Amino acid sequence: MKIMKTRMVVFLAGLLISSSLIAQNKKSLSTPEIEAQIEADLAKMSVEEKVGQTCQITLDVLLKKDAEGKLIEPVEIDPAKVQEAIVEYGVGSVLNVGWKTLSLEEWEGVMEGVHAPYQSKDAKAPILYGIDAIHGVNYTVGGTLFPQEIGLAATWNPRLAMQFGQATAYETRASGIHWNFSPVLDLGRQPLWSRTFETLGEDPLLVSEMGKAIVCGYQGKGGINSEHVAACMKHFVGYSHPSSGRDRTPAWIPEKYMQELYLPPFKAAVEAGALTVMINSGVVNGIPGHENYELLTETLKNEWGFEGFAVSDWEDFIMLHTVHRTAATLKEGIINAINAGVDMSMVPLAPQYQEYCKLMIEAVNEGSITPDRLDDAVRRILRVKYIVGLYEKRMNQAKKYVDFGSEKMHQLALESALESITLLENDGVLPLKKSQKVLVTGPTSNNLIFLNGAWTHTWQGDNPLFNTKGRFSVREAIEAYVGTENVLFSQGAEVYMDEGFEASKLSDTEDFISKAEESDVILLCLGEFPSTEKPGDIRSLNLDSAQIELAKMAYATGKPVVLVMIEGRPRIIREIVDDASAIVQAYLPGDFGGEALAQLIYGEENFSGKLPYTYQKYDGQIEFYDHPRSVARHKANHFDAFDPQWEFGYGLSYTTFEYSNLTLDKNTLTEGDSIVITVDVTNTGSREGKEVVQLYISDHFASMTPAVKSLNAFEKVTLGAKDKKTVKFVLATEDLQFYGRDDEWICEPGMFSATIETLSADFELK
Ligand code: BGC
Repeated sequence: MKIMKTRMVVFLAGLLISSSLIAQNKKSLSTPEIEAQIEADLAKMSVEEKVGQTCQITLDVLLKKDAEGKLIEPVEIDPAKVQEAIVEYGVGSVLNVGWKTLSLEEWEGVMEGVHAPYQSKDAKAPILYGIDAIHGVNYTVGGTLFPQEIGLAATWNPRLAMQFGQATAYETRASGIHWNFSPVLDLGRQPLWSRTFETLGEDPLLVSEMGKAIVCGYQGKGGINSEHVAACMKHFVGYSHPSSGRDRTPAWIPEKYMQELYLPPFKAAVEAGALTVMINSGVVNGIPGHENYELLTETLKNEWGFEGFAVSDWEDFIMLHTVHRTAATLKEGIINAINAGVDMSMVPLAPQYQEYCKLMIEAVNEGSITPDRLDDAVRRILRVKYIVGLYEKRMNQAKKYVDFGSEKMHQLALESALESITLLENDGVLPLKKSQKVLVTGPTSNNLIFLNGAWTHTWQGDNPLFNTKGRFSVREAIEAYVGTENVLFSQGAEVYMDEGFEASKLSDTEDFISKAEESDVILLCLGEFPSTEKPGDIRSLNLDSAQIELAKMAYATGKPVVLVMIEGRPRIIREIVDDASAIVQAYLPGDFGGEALAQLIYGEENFSGKLPYTYQKYDGQIEFYDHPRSVARHKANHFDAFDPQWEFGYGLSYTTFEYSNLTLDKNTLTEGDSIVITVDVTNTGSREGKEVVQLYISDHFASMTPAVKSLNAFEKVTLGAKDKKTVKFVLATEDLQFYGRDDEWICEPGMFSATIETLSADFELK
C-alpha cells in the first residue's frame, strides 16, 4: 500500500534559526493598498508604456562616451540617452556595471540620472535598478566582500547566510540600488561548470536552508525597509547541469531529479517570499528555460503562488532566435518568452532595446500577446517596485548608511571566511608556530584577485587594479600575522588565461627550491584563475600540469607542505594528496580570506567548515553522496563508482567530537506523525570547536531504487573543551517522500535508517 502525499516537500527537522525566520516572513509582501494602486496605475498606462516596463537595459546605454565611443570617467549619465530610453520608450529597469567598480558618489550620480524622469513625472513608474552583488556589494568601492556562495555554504551556518544577506542588502541600498541578482539556487552537481562557485553546493536541503536564509537577509524578516533589497532567485531551473560542463549548453534532467533535487531550493525561496526570479539561459530537456510554460507559469506562478516577476537573463529573448532556434524571428522569441511567463526582458543593449519595444508593441496589437498577459507582467513588476519602496521620496542614499564598509561589516565577512575554510587533511603539522620559517608560494598566493574570484569589481574579477585597498592576499596576510622576518615568498607558478582557456607555467624554479630549503614549512597555494560564465569554461577537471609539478617539487624538498586550494571548483588533485602534510580548502573566501587563513593555520581560530560538495577523485567518474546503491558496490574489486577524494559534509577540526546515544522516541511512524531523534555530541579534545551535526536518512527498499542516504537535517553547534550537547531533530513522514514512478510524490511503508556520523538506528514507516 502506498501513502499518497501532496507534492509538498517539507523539511521539518532541525534548523531552528532558519525555520523561525521563515515563519516570520509573510508569503505575500504586498498589501491591498499596493494592489489597488497598481490597478489605478495600469488603468492610466498605454500599451507602449506597459511594454516599456518589461524592458531592461544595461547602464552603458545611458552613459556619456567620448568621441571614440569610450565611456567617460568618472561615469556620467547622458540626459539625452535617458530621455530616449526612460521617457520615450518608458524603459522600466536598468542593470549592472560590468567594467569597473563605482564609488558611492558615482552611484549617487547614476541614480540621480536614472530616477530623474520619474521625479519630474516624465515617466509613469520609477526605475528598478538591479545588480549582481553576489558576494557583497562587489561593484561599489569600499563594499564588504564575503566568501562566494560556495564558501558560504561550507559554513553550514544559516545564521551567517542571513547576516551576509543583511549586510549585502544594506551596502547595496547605500549604493542606491534596490534589487540584487542573488542568490544562485542552482545545484552544484556539475563540477566542470564555471559557475560552481556561485552555487551553495550539491545538496537540495543545504541549498534550500542557506538560500532561504540569504533571501530573508536581503528582504528582511517582517518586510522590506530602506536597508533591504529584492532578492532574485537564479537561474530557474537546471542551468547548473550542462552535459558538456560548458556554460549555457544543454542539460538533460529526468523529472525525478528535477522534482527531488533542482526545484526544491527555488520552492523554499518562494515560500520565504523571494520577490524575483531570473530564468535559465540554457536548454533543459530540449526546451529553452525562457520558453518553458510548464515550469514558469504552471509550477512557479500557479502552483507555488510566486507573486513577483521573472526577468530573463542577458539577451535571452534574442537567443531564442539566434542560438536556440526555437523561434524563427526575434518577434517570435519575444512572444514565446512572454507567453511562457517571463515578465521582463534583459535586452539589454541599444539599438536592441528600441527594437524589442517596437516588436513587442506589434505583438500586443496583433493579439499574439494578450492584454491580460501584458497586464499580468506589468502588475508583477510594479508590485515589486512598490514593495521595495521605489515610490517613496528619493534622497541621497549614501549618507544614511553609516555602517557601509564599517568594522562591523568586516568582522562579519571575516567570521564567514573563518567558518567556511575547510581542513581536509592534517598529520599534525597544523597549527603552525609563528617561530617557523614559512615559504609562501604558488600561483594563488600573491594577489587578492584569487581570493575573490569573478564578480569582484569587474565581471571576471581578474583586474588587480581594482583590489580593495587595505585588504590582504595570502602572502600579505601571513606576513602581517607573523612578521616578514619569518616569511619567504617565491611565486612558484602562474595561472593565467591563454586564448580563452586557463593555462599555467612554472616560474623561477631555482628561487623556489632555494627558498624551500631555507624554510621549515611550505604553504603552497594552488587553484584557479578568476573567471565565470563562458570565459570560465574548462575542458577537464584535472588541475593543470604546472601546478601538479610545483606540488611535486615542493614534496621533493622533504619539507612539510600545507596545500591550500583556492578554487571555485573542486579540481582533481589525486596525485598530490598523499604527500601533503595538511590540505586546506579555502574556496573563494573573499577580501578577508587571507586573514582568516592566517588565523586558522596558526591555530588562533579553529576550523569548522564542511564540504558542501563531494570532492571528486577522478575526472571521469563523477558521483554524488546521495547516489543509488548500485553505484557503490563491490568495494573490494574496484567496481565502486563512488570513490571520492573527500565526501560531502566532511571537514576536520583541531579538536575531536564524539557522538553517542542516538535515540529515536519511537521506532514506528504513521502518516502525519513524527519521530524525535536525539544525539549527544561531546567535544573530546582540549579546545573549543564547532561541529555540524548531520542527520541522514536511508530508505531500505522502495519501488524506485533509493539513494544510499539523503541529508535530512543539520545543525551547527559550538562546544567548549569536554562539553556535551544534546541535539534534537524532528522527522516527519513528509521527509520520507520521493518522486515515484507515476510522477507523484509518495511515501512507501517499510524500514528506514537514521544515521548521524557513525551511529545508526532503524525505524519503520507503517
Ligand atoms: C548572468 C546572470 C547575471 C546577469 C546580469 C548574466 O550573464 O548569467 O547571472 O545576473 O548576467 O549581470
